[in-house]
Amino acid sequence: MRPKIRFEMNSGTDRSRWGPLADALRAYQDGRTDARLLVRTDLGTREEWAASVFFRTTDEFPPLEREALRHCGRRVIEVGAGAGPHSLALLREGHEVLAVESLPEIAALLVERGVETVTVRPLDDLPAGSADTVLLLMNGLGLAGTLEGLQPLLESAVRLLAPGGRIVADSTDPRHFLELDAEDPVVGQDGRYEGEVQFQVEFEGSKGAPFPFLYVDAETLAKHASRAGLTLEAALPFENGTYLAILARSDDHDSGHDTATRLSEAG
Ligand SMILES: C[S@@+](CC[C@H](N)C(=O)[O-])C[C@H]1O[C@@H](n2cnc3c(N)ncnc32)[C@H](O)[C@@H]1O
Repeated sequence: MRPKIRFEMNSGTDRSRWGPLADALRAYQDGRTDARLLVRTDLGTREEWAASVFFRTTDEFPPLEREALRHCGRRVIEVGAGAGPHSLALLREGHEVLAVESLPEIAALLVERGVETVTVRPLDDLPAGSADTVLLLMNGLGLAGTLEGLQPLLESAVRLLAPGGRIVADSTDPRHFLELDAEDPVVGQDGRYEGEVQFQVEFEGSKGAPFPFLYVDAETLAKHASRAGLTLEAALPFENGTYLAILARSDDHDSGHDTATRLSEAG
């Protein structure tokens, strides 16, 4: 039997992966508005990301993020909140928000920005059934790391949902950046799921450790979600292969099986 994998936090004090992001966010918060992060992937890409992106205002939210916020219920747990653009927008609209982060310094920054309820505890330590929405944005499902990590992430998230609750999360169909056709498989000849990408972030010469980040297509998500007791209710497409996934507990969702079947048939 396979050992049970839990969705792991980046273990509190482990700055190895996301430490340079934490430093870039701190620099921006302290007035260095030109702070920039260097992001490399094993697809051969090397991009500069302005730290300001993580401080985007509601007006600057892309359509996918606006749509995501429309699907949020009263009690929201935001996983991987970063500098908190979505948590802050939701708080302004009267939602109750718990922001979950991996690093204490990002948690401190969230508090400084006005998101007062923040935790760096693993999802499995949070009270079951305490959220109407678990929100993961900016390719939020990427935090699963690998396809193998997807079911544990979803299982940890579904445990937090109150009856009728939803996981609201985004991803990108890897076919978009692999330049594949819609009907092409995302699994390479070696059997590896090609949406598993290695990322490395760098800020001012300080490089983080490379880490896996998952881009998952909607059909594959539907299959893994169903194993975690979830139904992919909707996969709303946006630009550049991105989509917004709305996942409901299967026991809440009468016609859930139909949706999952339809999506897998489409794939
Ligand atoms: C790409 S950023 C997205 C930030 C934010 N959601 C946004 O849209 O601006 C991903 C965030 O997830 C956090 N993170 C990484 N691993 C995590 C984990 N296992 N649990 C919670 N947060 C995590 C990182 O520290 C980082 O702030």
